[in-house]
Amino acid sequence: MILIKNIKALVQVRDQGVRYLSGAQMQELPQLENAWLTIENRKISGFGTMDSCPTEGITEVKDVKGSYVLPTWCDSHTHLVYAGNREKEFDMRLKGASYQEIAEAGGGILNSAKAMGASDITEVYAQAVKRMNAVIKMGTGAIEIKSGYGLTMETERMMLKIAKRFSYDYDIPVRTSFLAAHAVPAGFETSADYIDHIISDMLPAIADSGLADYIDIFCEDGYFSLEDTDRLLAAGAQYNLKPKIHVNQFTANGGVAMGVKHNALSVDHLEELTEDDIQALKGSETIPVALPGCSLFLGIPYTPARRIIDAGLPLALATDYNPGSAPSGNMNLVVALACSKMKMTPEEAINAATINGAYAMGLEAEVGSITVGKRANLIITEPIPSIGYLPYSFGQNHIQEVLISGYSYKPTN
Ligand code: NIG
Ligand code: FE
Repeated sequence: MILIKNIKALVQVRDQGVRYLSGAQMQELPQLENAWLTIENRKISGFGTMDSCPTEGITEVKDVKGSYVLPTWCDSHTHLVYAGNREKEFDMRLKGASYQEIAEAGGGILNSAKAMGASDITEVYAQAVKRMNAVIKMGTGAIEIKSGYGLTMETERMMLKIAKRFSYDYDIPVRTSFLAAHAVPAGFETSADYIDHIISDMLPAIADSGLADYIDIFCEDGYFSLEDTDRLLAAGAQYNLKPKIHVNQFTANGGVAMGVKHNALSVDHLEELTEDDIQALKGSETIPVALPGCSLFLGIPYTPARRIIDAGLPLALATDYNPGSAPSGNMNLVVALACSKMKMTPEEAINAATINGAYAMGLEAEVGSITVGKRANLIITEPIPSIGYLPYSFGQNHIQEVLISGYSYKPTN
């Protein structure tokens, strides 16, 4: 049994059964001061205050005086498997071009799909491994990864295979989403034609392969319409693929209500948000997900977290790690941006990046809180004065050690 002792405070201590936090609940971040925690069989087996610290059956002791211990970040929205980068487009944007203009000129997602098509699986895998190592080192202990830079049956399948393999390579929960409806590739007249192709030719085989946990679509003017979204999500439901979808990044066009109609697990982006969108989410089990790294990088509005939380809704935070709109998988920065730019409190932001992120991947029974029986995926901070110091000192991670299933994470490559 591994014992961690003299923990300044254990953060996010919850009973099993908490699924997600909404509205005012997000302000509560339960902490146990001057604490210990034990790990057995890769899981959290107990915790308490130092006056009751166990002494029997201990094989390893970590004395972490001055450190906080919290569950690892749950990053519920990434496109971490991609080929090459798009820093040239970054440069074009700095000189005045917009994300949409670059996409209309054949850049953007199609540019990444071209790079993917020209790469072999070993190359793509090697690049993605580097990113995985980096994000786990920065405290991510559960992750969702999307396809969507393949846009053909074979390349989409290859992306999902790499993502699925990571759940074995890294021993962290990985959830995958099938995002063939990310951009319309050459050879299709309309987005509807490509959706026909996805539904009849790609979806049955992908579902059958068991490589996808969820289905995704980029519901946005210039990409896929509300009707495309309706058809694809209905088809996905035939294969029990729940939606986790991109909506309201540039325009609020009813995608939120469409997601709720199809019982989406999450609706992500929401940089644009109407009162109707908020009403649509009320009473649903669909969690909104904000991606502040994308807002920072594209210079678009931040998701209005205060309106969402103050309406009594839940909110999760994720990185959106991808080569075009958010080339960073750093959840520590996401938490800091959520506070500074979206006016979330540190408590709300940490809840949004842990238990609510876990829910947004269907992993709330396994990760996202300090709970007996959950995986011992833990962040041990450097000695810091308070938990609010994490988002306050933005751009720094203050992580002393990351434990994955109780074992110190040391990147292999
Ligand atoms: O979530 N908006 C759609 N998909 C990604 C960006 C993809 C890209 O630009 O490569 C996103 O922002
Ligand atoms: Fe995304």
